[in-house]
Amino acid sequence: MTLPDHILITITPGPDLRAFLDSRGYSSIFVLTDENTAHHCYSLIRHELPPHVHVSIPAGEIHKTMETCMQVWKAMTDARLDRRSVVVVLGGGMPGDLGGFCAATFKRGIDFVLVPTTLLAQADASIGGKLGIDFESYKNHIGVFRQPALTLISSVFLQTLPEAELRSGFAEIVKHALISDREWWEELSSRPWKTLSWQDEVKRSAAFKWSIVSEDPHEEGLRKILNAGHTIGHAIESWFLSAGKPVLHGEAVAAGLICEAFISKELNLLTESDFKLLKDYLLTVFGKLSWPEEESDTISRLCYQDKKNQGKKIRMALLHSVGRAVWDYSVEFESISRALNEYRAL
Ligand SMILES: NC(=O)c1ccc[n+]([C@@H]2O[C@H](COP(=O)([O-])OP(=O)(O)OC[C@H]3O[C@@H](n4cnc5c(N)ncnc54)[C@H](O)[C@@H]3O)[C@@H](O)[C@H]2O)c1
Ligand SMILES: [Zn+2]
Repeated sequence: MTLPDHILITITPGPDLRAFLDSRGYSSIFVLTDENTAHHCYSLIRHELPPHVHVSIPAGEIHKTMETCMQVWKAMTDARLDRRSVVVVLGGGMPGDLGGFCAATFKRGIDFVLVPTTLLAQADASIGGKLGIDFESYKNHIGVFRQPALTLISSVFLQTLPEAELRSGFAEIVKHALISDREWWEELSSRPWKTLSWQDEVKRSAAFKWSIVSEDPHEEGLRKILNAGHTIGHAIESWFLSAGKPVLHGEAVAAGLICEAFISKELNLLTESDFKLLKDYLLTVFGKLSWPEEESDTISRLCYQDKKNQGKKIRMALLHSVGRAVWDYSVEFESISRALNEYRAL
């Protein structure tokens, strides 16, 4: 699998970004960070950049809102950006989704460059052109599809990322390996996760994600396999959030992958031995989440709010075997509750 021209992996992000911007001859450059990436990442490249305006937004998912967009659009207007300007977003998936959305809607859409600074954004969120913000309690409820002019990925930025965030992003890489390539999964799971080369893993992950999204850009079919682990994972994430004990996305996805693998095993898709390897590995890396037994049904019900469900049926992407996934598989409510209880009992 190869990367397209607009996705570049580099160890010299500053000079490469400068070369790209110079080659395009943009009329003005607007750099967006959040408060953490302003501190940790902007300082690594600011001196290499052509003259630009820098604006920072508050960090964290709670700020992925219309109010923040309004601040960004105001700053873009004050900076007199025109249709030949470019927005460079230096940050994780939150500023990437929001900043890309602001650029994609400003004056009916101007160019933007994503420079992802978290493992999650490098391996997943910065690839595929999904942009947007949260609305009321709905995640990514308002948004558009638009591809960045460039996604510039460098593991240089990961050095300041807290370990918990690194591990959370790693869950998406594990998911990509599990649904695409048994050999990749075996290599990856045979080493302690902290010793992996992020540059190599991100390259593989981004190339795999691109191969899927370029075939099905608007998620009509194949792209749904990327939701593996996420139907139950999102429900678990929402439950912990509403219980006032938020967990990181990747921790919930890891638990979701185990529960969904249990369902695959029950349906005779996944072998008992593959299930055991997968479960043991994910528990070792990500630990185990716990909730009271009676809450398993509440979490199952939360799966119904998932965007991928039509009517009353729960349709999800499932592992067919290690290295292969299927999508739109109808799963019964009871089967999800059973999987959640099996997980609890591990
Ligand atoms: N568009 C897509 O296809 C897609 C896919 C998956 C997830 N997402 C979105 O991505 C978001 C989650 O992404 P995320 O985990 O990157 O969240 P994030 O951007 O909120 O980053 C997590 C935390 O790490 C900090 N941080 C970022 N880079 C850092 C660095 N190099 N050093 C130190 N701290 C740093 C941030 O300030 C933040 O506090 C969610 O909003 C999710 O909806 C989008
Ligand atoms: Zn995810």
